[in-house]
Amino acid sequence: MEKFGALPRPVGTLRHGRSSIRTILPIAVALACFLFLVYGFAFGQGIKFWEAYSRARLSPQAAAAVSRCRSIQAKPAPPLDFAKRSQSDRFAPGTKPILLKNAKIWTGEKNGTEVVHADILLDKGLIKGIGQTNLAKILKSYKDDIEVIDVKNAWVTPGIVDLHSHLGDASSPELDGASGDDNSLHGPILPWLRALDGLNTHDDSYRLSIAGGVTTALILPGSANAIAYVMHIVIAGGQGFTIKLRTTAERSPTSMLLEPPYQINNSFPDPDLPLRWRQMKHACGENPSRVYGNTRMDTIWAFREAYNKARQLKNSQDVYCSKVNAGKYEEIATTPFPEDLQWESLVDVLRGRVKVQVHCYEAVDLDDIVRLSNEFEFPIAAFHHAHEAYLVPNVLKQAYDHPPAVAMFATNARYKREAYRGSEFAPRILAENGLKVVMKSDHPVLDSRYLLFEAQQAYVYGLPDNLALAAVTSTPAEIMGMSHRVGYVKEGWDADLVIWDSHPLSLGATPVQVFIDGISQLSSPHVTRKPDVFQRTPKVPNFDKEAKAAIKYEGLPPLEPKKAKADVVIFANVANVYQRVYDDIKEVFSADEKQELGTVVVENGKLTCSGSSLACLSSSLLERAEVIDLRGGSITPGLTTFGSNLGLQEIDGEPSTGDGLVFDPLTHKVPSILGGDATLIQAIDGLQFGGRDALLAYRAGVVSAITAPRGRGFYAGLSTSFSTGALNKLEEGAIIQDVNALHVSVRHFGTSPSVSTQIGALRTLLLDPPKGSAGKWFHDVAEGKVTLVVDADSADIIATLILLKREVEDKTGNTILLTITGALEAHLLAKELAEAKVGIIQVPSRPFPTVWDRRRILPGHPLSEESSIQVLLKYNVTVGIGIEESWSARNTGFDIGWLAIDAGGSITKAQAIALGSTNVEKLLGGKVETSEAHELVATEGGDLFDLGSRVRAVISPRRGLVDLL
Ligand SMILES: *[C@@H]1O[C@H](CO)[C@@H](O)[C@H](O)[C@H]1NC(C)=O
Ligand SMILES: *[C@@H]1O[C@H](CO)[C@@H](O)[C@H](O)[C@H]1NC(C)=O
Ligand SMILES: *[C@@H]1O[C@H](CO)[C@@H](O)[C@H](O)[C@H]1NC(C)=O
Repeated sequence: MEKFGALPRPVGTLRHGRSSIRTILPIAVALACFLFLVYGFAFGQGIKFWEAYSRARLSPQAAAAVSRCRSIQAKPAPPLDFAKRSQSDRFAPGTKPILLKNAKIWTGEKNGTEVVHADILLDKGLIKGIGQTNLAKILKSYKDDIEVIDVKNAWVTPGIVDLHSHLGDASSPELDGASGDDNSLHGPILPWLRALDGLNTHDDSYRLSIAGGVTTALILPGSANAIAYVMHIVIAGGQGFTIKLRTTAERSPTSMLLEPPYQINNSFPDPDLPLRWRQMKHACGENPSRVYGNTRMDTIWAFREAYNKARQLKNSQDVYCSKVNAGKYEEIATTPFPEDLQWESLVDVLRGRVKVQVHCYEAVDLDDIVRLSNEFEFPIAAFHHAHEAYLVPNVLKQAYDHPPAVAMFATNARYKREAYRGSEFAPRILAENGLKVVMKSDHPVLDSRYLLFEAQQAYVYGLPDNLALAAVTSTPAEIMGMSHRVGYVKEGWDADLVIWDSHPLSLGATPVQVFIDGISQLSSPHVTRKPDVFQRTPKVPNFDKEAKAAIKYEGLPPLEPKKAKADVVIFANVANVYQRVYDDIKEVFSADEKQELGTVVVENGKLTCSGSSLACLSSSLLERAEVIDLRGGSITPGLTTFGSNLGLQEIDGEPSTGDGLVFDPLTHKVPSILGGDATLIQAIDGLQFGGRDALLAYRAGVVSAITAPRGRGFYAGLSTSFSTGALNKLEEGAIIQDVNALHVSVRHFGTSPSVSTQIGALRTLLLDPPKGSAGKWFHDVAEGKVTLVVDADSADIIATLILLKREVEDKTGNTILLTITGALEAHLLAKELAEAKVGIIQVPSRPFPTVWDRRRILPGHPLSEESSIQVLLKYNVTVGIGIEESWSARNTGFDIGWLAIDAGGSITKAQAIALGSTNVEKLLGGKVETSEAHELVATEGGDLFDLGSRVRAVISPRRGLVDLL
């Protein structure tokens, strides 16, 4: 403030000098320029009175021009005294102060390495203090009007910040005409669109994502639809907005905004207020190309054309303002400030006032945009998705002004060509190259409720723990230009905090409480603190070799397993062994704390001994054996995946890599050459082997898959089961079972066929089967010999299916084998399902209300006491879990581990393993062979359900071998 105390005089001289004192004009102009410059640094505070003074002496038109020209020079930044604010602009009157006692705080400071044990005082929407408090003093100063919570040394982190979300714009459940409000199809270049204009305040996701600790999100236009066969669509351009997720008293989208760049009454910032960051979404590569029939060349030209237009506009503004700044008002007296509402946002990009968030995947696209940034001289805040960024870190470093951050998924890849070379090691490799790493959800592509799981996985695959936590808190806050108030636990920052039930990087970490602007968000959280082992930073495996291979092979390292050379493989230091006993799982060996770790002997792919080394080993065995040290690891039955295209399609977005869709006789004429309507298609005939998702699943202990043909609607066909590690169909043991079960779907498709039509078709097929192969299989279902699998989520449809089963059973006198998959609302009918002996496979294991049929999910901790799986198990329903997209097959072990941890001991380890193995097979018509035929998986340093373990071997009696990984 004082610094500018002497300024009014020269300013006055300038104004008078224009008409009378020629000689001092250049000096005055220089001084004026200095002032504008100084103003640029001063962010409006110190110099306001000069503004008022100078405006008062100008014509209204000239004053407006001066003000406008001044405002285009400003750079976004918080006010200088922002850190000293005593109340947040988002403070909700009536919010009580809160003292959190005894917190273990990950502050975000010191590069994410600082952890302090202290109390935290929240008041007026801010973190008022961090330190050791004198409770009596505090209570006194607040006259007892303060809530005190002893968090008992629980982990506390900043609220999670999501740099890439479509929450509210792509609605959940999807109800706005099925397309969402996040994509305009009016052209590839739409920088004038604002995501804010479509922000729905009633999306179910707000509550769910807050329950995962998300407090702030950047809502970008453009989306990708998670449902297979709907093309990913993104528009090249459109403005994003940062919101806080909590509900507001106003209930409006505008009131959710964090530091909006302009007021409710204007397209431009108020020159009297500090300039805020704007956010711009760009997209390149396949998405804009697919939608508009463009090539990459067209898309980049569209960008260049748009930026050229913006540059011309900027130049004419600069010429105009150079006259204004020189005081030549008469020259601009009849010309308005050059303006174009459609291009003003790109002009702001060129002025460095916009955080440019670019959706780009491949090296070619990253290279294109880096060239664009240099040609037009604008900085890029972050590349999003960017599945090939780790292969070209130096390209990113050449971007204009500074290297962009990279905002990624952890293991979501290969769903289109652009993502095919994606690697789980990308976050660590980029960090090693000094680039900033952000983990993002692209909600609802990934449910942002579980954004922290992305950080956990990045950590498992080698991103250091400090950077992994920063990747969902302080780093995204910085990249969106909000790190002056969110992303840290720091005095003066917004009171957005999460108290966790465990170390935030441990699997299944769940918020005990979430604060946004100092307001607690969970009204009656169902979650208790986890045992000590979950409170420590989890150990993770060493993947240095694999990370190197990812680069060496340009994202496609060989994944094929190697067979053990010796016929005898000995596993040493085994903590426990679980085996299948017919259709059940039993622990057959366990080294308790006193006992030494065990030994397992495998001969020709068969487990022949498990126990102490004394009992299992002989010198002759040792001579012939290959020995693998599992370092306290486990041997468990291999897992089975169901629900995705695995084995039928390599790249979801590339039809030429997949089996395609079967005819649906309810909506299509089936060619007579096929035998007409009465034909059922078998998935086995379309199987492909050696796919990357299949091999990655195998390497993660998911040794078999059950896949049904892909239907268009009602009709699917006959599923098959196969080994994910086999490289071709003719290999010994590649096919496990030719035909598993008969699959159909009954869903609200919106138009036709109606649900009642689908049920009607099912009734006819079961009670009056047609001739032909379909007739034969439906006849076998009605006889109770073949399992009928119905994909359905709605509790109403499930109830109808239970009645239909009863009806058919009454008429035929047989017991029908019925399994429901999807089944996200099945928990509402747990008792009835158990009574009807109908099992369910829940897909996905952590529910999300994507569509109306799934709106009544049971969300689990912290929002409900039990998860849907726990409820079903409690009623003795046979339950399995499945996945929606094939990239996630590899995560099945984590999915199971998470469920077990969440159930807090109410699910045994054996029950948990069954959820992803025996139960899936049983429910999908798997013929359970002798236990000896099933694959076992040997893990090092933990079990299959643990972030810290890695799979070392698959033991396959079926194929008579041990695969080493
Ligand atoms: C931040 O932490 C990472 C990983 O622990 C380290 O590699 C990097 O050098 C650190 N950066 C600074 C500025 O200390
Ligand atoms: C626009 O709205 C803001 C916030 O309500 C207010 O402070 C400002 O004075 C308004 N500006 C104009 C030009 O009306
Ligand atoms: C589930 O099965 C167990 C063991 O057979 C039994 O004790 C329990 O009562 C059953 N629960 C229900 C709700 O039927």
